[in-house]
Amino acid sequence: MIRTVLIIGGSGFIGTHLSLKLREGFKVFSTFGRNLVRIPGVTPIPMRLENRSSGRQILGLVKPDVVIYAAGSNDVEWSERNPKETEKVHTAGAGSVSMVSELSTSRLIYLSNSYVFDGGRGNFHETDVALPGSYLGKCKLGGENFIRGKSVNHLVLRLSPVLGRGNGLQLTFFDQLRIALSRGQRLTLSSNEIHSFVPITTVVDVIGRLVEGSIKNRVFHYGGLTKLSWVDLARRFAKRFGFDPGLIMTKNSMLSKGVTEDGQPRPVDLSLNSTQLIESLKIKPFELEEMFSIFGESRN
Ligand SMILES: NC(=O)c1ccc[n+]([C@@H]2O[C@H](COP(=O)([O-])OP(=O)(O)OC[C@H]3O[C@@H](n4cnc5c(N)ncnc54)[C@H](OP(=O)(O)O)[C@@H]3O)[C@@H](O)[C@H]2O)c1
Repeated sequence: MIRTVLIIGGSGFIGTHLSLKLREGFKVFSTFGRNLVRIPGVTPIPMRLENRSSGRQILGLVKPDVVIYAAGSNDVEWSERNPKETEKVHTAGAGSVSMVSELSTSRLIYLSNSYVFDGGRGNFHETDVALPGSYLGKCKLGGENFIRGKSVNHLVLRLSPVLGRGNGLQLTFFDQLRIALSRGQRLTLSSNEIHSFVPITTVVDVIGRLVEGSIKNRVFHYGGLTKLSWVDLARRFAKRFGFDPGLIMTKNSMLSKGVTEDGQPRPVDLSLNSTQLIESLKIKPFELEEMFSIFGESRN
């Protein structure tokens, strides 16, 4: 029997790539807020997360075997400026959906991020205590707690920043970088916020495996092997693809607290350790150069 997947936030960056991947083996329903994305073989459904009853109605209608919660912006600076919307989407919305899925047998996968940590030392494991250093991280942790407390069949997947092309409606970081460099425009990025970036291709593969598998009630981390700052990532990208690395300007991460002994703003290391996921799914860890090879095909 063909199984049904509901992607909440299906019109976003990750949601669009997931819809394209999962439509091969599942009946896929994808919710959108402001942006309707039409993908052959995928059924779009309007849903505003502020409207608490819409989650109940949609889940009752679709009766999904799996719900993937992929809603809300992952932009940490935007979240500080828009706290109400951040809380509604990442925490309250996840809370209403988990209340409904609690009543059914649906499997619920919540996409979280590395901002649930403070960035004190990096290489964070699933067993490390989450102490968010940002409003986005607090709201993500709130969403995780709802899911873990209410859903009897859940997974929390904490992702490092994901790199890849967007769906044409909203520009991803990768789109903005590629466009700015190819136009010779400057881009200002943080030089002391370190991540273990991952490409969207492997992220959708991992989520696909979790959807099909039977592992449940776990938290997993997923990031790449190479740790670097936004500035280092952008400069290496520029060098690799023949753009001018001098166009990348530096700024301090808004998450940096205090200074080092030589008076520099303290680095924030939010890299994730993915060993548990890699061993559980028997997948290969990812190096930055491999990621660039994938991007090489879609540079223009
Ligand atoms: N991208 C990353 O690097 C990354 C890394 C770690 C975790 N994550 C997590 O993965 C999830 C998806 O990230 P993304 O980069 O794909 O985000 P995105 O491109 O900004 O997409 C967000 C999705 O959420 C929907 N949405 C936002 N506010 C809504 C509201 N009030 N009501 C209904 N729908 C709403 C959007 O719908 P419309 O566009 O149609 O309005 C869109 O479908 C987020 O929870 C994020 O924290 C992302």
